[in-house]
This record gives sequence, structure tokens and C-alpha cells, in this order.
Amino acid sequence: MISVHSTVSRMESMRTGMFGPYGGAHVPPVLQPKLTTLADAFLEARVDPAFRATLRMYLRDYVGRPSPLYYARRMSERLGARIYLKRKDLNHTGAHKINNTLGQALLAVRMGAKKLIAETGAGQHGVATATAAALLGLECTVFMGAEDAQRQAPNVERMKLLGAEIITTDAGTATLKDAVDAALAYYIDHPDVFYCLGSAVGPHPYPAMVREFQSVIGDEARAQIVDAEGRLPDAVVACVGGGSNAIGIFSAFLNESAVALYGAEGGGTDVAALRTAATLSRGKPVVFQGSYSYCLVDEHNNPVDAYSISAGFDYPGIGPEHAYLKDSSRVIYEPVMDDEAVAAFHMLCREEGIIPAIESSHALALVQKRLAGSGKLVLVNLSGRGDKDLGRF
Ligand SMILES: Cc1ncc(COP(=O)(O)O)c(C=O)c1O
Repeated sequence: MISVHSTVSRMESMRTGMFGPYGGAHVPPVLQPKLTTLADAFLEARVDPAFRATLRMYLRDYVGRPSPLYYARRMSERLGARIYLKRKDLNHTGAHKINNTLGQALLAVRMGAKKLIAETGAGQHGVATATAAALLGLECTVFMGAEDAQRQAPNVERMKLLGAEIITTDAGTATLKDAVDAALAYYIDHPDVFYCLGSAVGPHPYPAMVREFQSVIGDEARAQIVDAEGRLPDAVVACVGGGSNAIGIFSAFLNESAVALYGAEGGGTDVAALRTAATLSRGKPVVFQGSYSYCLVDEHNNPVDAYSISAGFDYPGIGPEHAYLKDSSRVIYEPVMDDEAVAAFHMLCREEGIIPAIESSHALALVQKRLAGSGKLVLVNLSGRGDKDLGRF
């Protein structure tokens, strides 16, 4: 049974940035006023009918929302559960990231910024930010680890076509954490830019703000599944990198105690040996990149490099709301190993004619592990499409 303390009031977290003990804004003093201004501007914008109407218009006419909810018949028969896919792969730019970047880019315009900066791992958030910047006539610089720039080369091409400047970094493992560090350093030095952060991580107000911009996924999916089946699902499953697509879909079900929620972490190849991105399963709470939350750390509590086959998961941190939802047992988080995700990737290609992102394939694999043969009604967030992963496995 789920207790009333297993979730945090949405409004409260938007004001305070706290999820139980997690969250906050652990940043250098020079950043604090910028974040306070950003938090105030967001709270104002989200209740401004003109802002809401503009965002709604772009989500409908430009992104293609609402995205379909698709009953995956062949996969359901194979796995012995009634499986519906929320098709974020059909969004413009091929993933959920665009919901958030459009929201933040419109906020940037409202605040008078002329330039967006962003970090990216899989390149989906970079492409989504470059897209929003082109749409609204803003400059755009995207920071990316050199390793990611190589393994997600098609997205680097896309960002360039959209007019973004790409700055690669060779620091650390040259992946997402290093891209965030580079973007934060630039943000501190260039006070006029707007930092369009790509997941529900980082200092307040980003975790709550990103959740709000992604909650459209859960709101739509809830109405769609009730329409299709006349009831709420038994389970909702999403993959978890920083946590934005997961919190976006979970947000509509957190207070429904009969709906089980599952988060698939990037297990990598060896969770115990830390060759993993399974932050909640293997990490512990520390302050990391502006927020108090779980993080993969060494014996001195220093962040270690994450590993996953998914560039979008190669991050040792996790959004603070997920930390809270793990501790309160409202969501079950479980690592999915690289080979399990690859098998699920091929299964969806062959059973349904849909090529999923390797990140989303982790959610499909968790359905297979946890819910196969259950006969349950399962809603899976298919967070993105797999074009970026072609030729990799
Ligand atoms: C398709 C896709 N799904 C999931 C993720 C993980 O991010 P998040 O946990 O913020 O949804 C990414 C990250 O790049 C992605 O590209």
C-alpha cells in the first residue's frame, strides 16, 4: 500500500525545489541570483494563459501532439500482457526532449535571452534545443562529450544543419557528465545566456520545471488509455537516464496507488563492478552538479564515470524526485543490462515494425523481465526512435 508520504506535492516542489531531503540548489553564489530569477519567471509563465496557449499551439502544430497511444498486439501476445506504447518516437525530432526544450526556449524568449546553451549525451536533447532555437530565432551552442559526438554522429549532423554551434569536450570519459560540466562553466561565465537543461536534474528550478514541461506525456497517456480500455493501467514503465521522460509519464499516476510504476535504469555490463549507469540501484546520496540526489560514487564519495550502451544514460546522477520516489518505494527501479536492452530493441523491430531508441529499449526489456505472463494492462513510454542508433548493434 502506498502511503501519502510517498509522493511530494507538485506545487510545493515547484516553489521549494525539495523532494523530501533531495534537490535544492547547491551552486556557486554567482549562479544563485540567476536561478532565483529563472524560478520566478517559470512560476509566472506557467500560469500565464498566453504562455500556455503558445506552448500548446507549438506542441500540437509543430511537435505533432498528442502522440498516439498504440496497442502493441504482437508484442502483447508474445509477452503475455496487454501492452500499450506511448509513441514519443513519433514526435518531431524523434524523442520526448522537444516538449521540454520548447517550454524552456519560450521561457528564454519571455526573459529576453538571445542565446540558448545545452548539454547533450545521445544528441536528442541537443537536436531538440537546436530545433527550438531555430524555430524561435535564437542562437544556440551545444556541449557534447567527444565520445558521444562520435557514437551519435547523425545527431551531430542534425544540430549543425539546424544552425547550432557544437563544442566537444575531451574531459573525463567525454560523455554527458563532462558535457554538463562544460555547459555549467560556460553558464557561469556568460550571464546573458539561457541554459536549456535536458533532464529533470541539476539545481532548482530545473527538476520541477522539466517535470512540468514533460508532464504532458502522462496527462495525454492517462486520458488515452482510459479511453481505450475504460480504466487506468496496472503498470507504467519508463526508462530512466536523468529521469525526464519517466517523471513526465509517472506524474499523472503518482497518486493512483493501484498503478505500479517501474523505472528501467541503464545496467551496463556489471552493476556491482560499477560498469553501469544504474544510479538508484548502485549509487548513494551526495551533492552532484547542483543537486542532492543519488549518484554513482567511489569510496571517497567522488562521482565516477557511468557506463551504458545508451549514450542518453551515461550519467552518474539522477533527478532528485526519483531519489525520493525510490526511498518511499513508490517506484520500483531496476537495472536493465546492455544485452537485455539490445534483445528488446530487436524484438520491437521484428514484432511491431518500430525501431526504438536504445534508451527506450530498456523499458521494453523491463516489461519482459517483470510483467511477462502477468496478463496485466501495461503502459510503456517509448521515449524515442532508433535512427541515431543504426549500425551500432
Ligand atoms: C530517447 C531517449 N530516451 C531517454 C533518454 C534519457 O533521458 P531522460 O531520463 O531524461 O528521459 C534519452 C536521453 O538522451 C533519450 O534520448
